[in-house]
Amino acid sequence: MHSSEVVEYLCVDDFLTTLSAARTLKSGFELDVIDVIQATPVHLEQLQDQIECPTNSLRLLVQLLKTNNVLAETTEGLVLSEAFGQAMRFCDLLEAKLDFALAVAPDFSDLFTVLLKDTQEFLNKAKLFQLFDYEKCLSATEANYEATRRWMRFTTALTRYEAPVCLSYHDFSSYRRMLDIGGNSGEFSRQICCRNLDLIATVCDLPVVCDIGQQHLADTEEADRIDFFRANALHDPLPDGYDVITFKSMLHDWPDEQAITFLQKAHHSVKQGGSLLIYERGPLDFTNSELPFSLLPILLFFPFYRSPEFYQQQFQHLGMVNIEIHEFFLESPFFVVSGTKP
Ligand SMILES: C[S@@+](CC[C@H](N)C(=O)[O-])C[C@H]1O[C@@H](n2cnc3c(N)ncnc32)[C@H](O)[C@@H]1O
Repeated sequence: MHSSEVVEYLCVDDFLTTLSAARTLKSGFELDVIDVIQATPVHLEQLQDQIECPTNSLRLLVQLLKTNNVLAETTEGLVLSEAFGQAMRFCDLLEAKLDFALAVAPDFSDLFTVLLKDTQEFLNKAKLFQLFDYEKCLSATEANYEATRRWMRFTTALTRYEAPVCLSYHDFSSYRRMLDIGGNSGEFSRQICCRNLDLIATVCDLPVVCDIGQQHLADTEEADRIDFFRANALHDPLPDGYDVITFKSMLHDWPDEQAITFLQKAHHSVKQGGSLLIYERGPLDFTNSELPFSLLPILLFFPFYRSPEFYQQQFQHLGMVNIEIHEFFLESPFFVVSGTKP
């Protein structure tokens, strides 16, 4: 895939450009207006019979959804607009992005100046880091499962659509054993195994994440080729003998020192002749683009995105060869850095 090619699933962002458009759409989902109209065209009066909402409120909501090109009026009644109908092909992603952006919107409105001035204070205060609380991924309690499922829905939805693009930049066909560190629900490994039938994968992640990941994969054809290794990959010994070890959207969570430790450990666990692969978002750049509402969750991590050259340098320090960088663009700059252990 060429970097300038449009990635089709990103059409969901067209309906999340502003807070008002996103919040209106959320109400459309919450009140079942979208579901009812998707099932069959209806006139406003018929819609009123099916939706629990005062008449003038429903009229207002429908007006806004029409203005935002979510709904269109035909002789048969209200329908989903053609563009929104296309976006609904990716409705899991659309709803995940919508909920993620709404969940962190208060961080932007209340704390953007703090984020600009003092990253540590932002880390202490932001809802974003209460949502991604890895302390809750260590012990198996109902409350921890619930909290962890909430953010894993976002990471899994993003990875479901990012993976095919990411994977188009590297050939996995010669590998037999892979390890995905911070591999989350196993969705990334699943897609690699789906394309490479001789491959078996290990997902390394924190215990609660692995439990939820196993449930995510349970009914998939790839489940019996993917196992989960419950560990703190920073401190615990990792298994070895892998042909390829991947990190996707994982290393930016960590300061340089820990990111380097992860890479050293992966380098130790990969076979001679095997590969390390890093998929990450790069530094944000708004020279030629505005900031859409849908990008808020990504924006709030902006101090943490590194350039690919940082990882290239670490690979060089580790003595790796055949180091390559491929850069591409999804909602923001993305890259893959690969290298071989000689
Ligand atoms: C931002 S998420 C990315 C998940 C996934 N790779 C993706 O692209 O969707 C970071 C992942 O690293 C995991 N993680 C964080 N600290 C970890 C640690 N010390 N050892 C193993 N996994 C860890 C988290 O549980 C989470 O699944």
